[in-house]
Amino acid sequence: MSRRILEIDTTPFGDQKPGTSGLRKKVTVFQQPHYLENFVQSIFASIGDTGGKTLVLGGDGRFHNRTAIQTILRMAAANGFARVVVGRDGLLSTPAASCVIRARGAFGGIILSASHNPAGRNGDFGIKYNISNGGPAPESVTEAMYAHSRTLRSYRILDEGPEIDLSQEGEAHLGPMTVEVINPVTDYADLMDTLFDMDAIRRLLAGGFTICFDAMHAITGPYARTILEDRLGAPEGSVINAIPLEDFGGGHPDPNLTYAKDLADLMFSPDAPDFGAASDGDGDRNMILGRDMFVTPSDSLAIILANSAHLPGYRGRVRGVARSMPTSMAADRVAEAMGLNSFETPTGWKFFGTLLDADLATFCGEESFGTGSDHVREKDGLWAVLAWLNILAARRESVSQIVQEHWMRYGRTYYTRHDYEELDSARAQELMDELRGTSLVGTEFAGRPVVLHDDFSYTDPVDGSVSHGQGIRIITDNDARLVVRLSGTGTSGATLRLYMERHERGPSNLFNNAQTVLGEMIYSARTLLRLRERFGTDTPTVIT
Ligand code: G1P
Ligand code: ZN
Repeated sequence: MSRRILEIDTTPFGDQKPGTSGLRKKVTVFQQPHYLENFVQSIFASIGDTGGKTLVLGGDGRFHNRTAIQTILRMAAANGFARVVVGRDGLLSTPAASCVIRARGAFGGIILSASHNPAGRNGDFGIKYNISNGGPAPESVTEAMYAHSRTLRSYRILDEGPEIDLSQEGEAHLGPMTVEVINPVTDYADLMDTLFDMDAIRRLLAGGFTICFDAMHAITGPYARTILEDRLGAPEGSVINAIPLEDFGGGHPDPNLTYAKDLADLMFSPDAPDFGAASDGDGDRNMILGRDMFVTPSDSLAIILANSAHLPGYRGRVRGVARSMPTSMAADRVAEAMGLNSFETPTGWKFFGTLLDADLATFCGEESFGTGSDHVREKDGLWAVLAWLNILAARRESVSQIVQEHWMRYGRTYYTRHDYEELDSARAQELMDELRGTSLVGTEFAGRPVVLHDDFSYTDPVDGSVSHGQGIRIITDNDARLVVRLSGTGTSGATLRLYMERHERGPSNLFNNAQTVLGEMIYSARTLLRLRERFGTDTPTVIT
């Protein structure tokens, strides 16, 4: 049956501005007539000639994934793509999508995800575009999408017909376009085999080292089962909550101590396995735990860098590390000791792309439970888990021993992030404006003189692009730091994030509680920002 290309009239929506990680809105917003189609057309209009190209397509499996994929397939065919590579059942984790784009030389990929945001009929949905290097579209491209979305008058789509069956691997045709349904795990799992000492991990697990990976009913279940249980031989049941559900089981798959509480409780109980980890909705975040030990993401990045000689895929070729500005400075200290590059970038994985492409950085990470390397152009949850298992297998020490030995050598960067969610947007903006309008240099913060107070700006050393307004930094003379910024991923009200850190050396200063050590900074930040007065509360919603 031949399918006609339709040009459908539409009117612009004013709110299709991509945030830190694509366009995220409530499912009900995406369900409005033409809403998804308008944005997809804006993507296709902003990425150059789509004729004859290959597109990768998949998502985290949340509610609306299946419907959106069928629409996007019809639009891709009408916009001239020759081939779309889709994960079976419409599934692809974010790092796997990045891997597939690279492995198959695709023009780019569309990933359907709102990361860890709650899913289901009343939850969130999201869509993001990744370019041919496998990484998130740069700001110039996302701005073009937004500009286009505000003026477009029509979109192109194939008329309706039978849906493509995504449950079977293989090829199908949609008008002149080929749809190739692939196993969503295989390319990714094969890539992991090339990076890590899988035999050493297999021996570690065979020797009785116990692990628990919590997939939180989101996308990483099938990936973790294939890699950890089938390929590496961890006993069945080592992966828990392994079945991806459209509503993520009603949970909030954000791997941190608040939302992965069951796992955290287990790891601090007498029944704790040797190693615990979790990933998020779309598989790009990770949390690493040992018995009675939580590894902060900032420390995890520093420790992976310090131990990179144990990782076969990186041995002898590590150039440097990049971290987002609010991430602790722990990795910088390792890079300096190893004589490697270190970079401080704005929040968001997209800023790492140019550094990785230019081979200036090899590892990168964010305090928000994101860690990764140049193997793909996204952060990668299971990659971090495998990096840790590789290090544990090589060193034959516990997670705690490895972390403590790291602190002894480099000092410990005490770190915490306090989030205040669903705040009044106007008041939150006012707070940021006030902070921008004054300078605290010369005054005291938490009993120490302030030596730097700025709004972080970044000039990309590779392409020269400049990003302003990336967050307030207040640094005191002991290198302690308060960072204040507003979230770019929230979907209701404003989310204020406060990040605090302080570096300590000497055995007697290394093993204290972070909230206690940072207590004075926390108190001073709340007072300085007048949180109670502005928002009626100064108790954070989430502490990590
Ligand atoms: C948050 C994190 C940031 C991460 C982003 C996408 O963004 O803080 O590090 O890159 O999610 O996962 P934010 O809401 O702070 O803008
Ligand atoms: Zn995510």
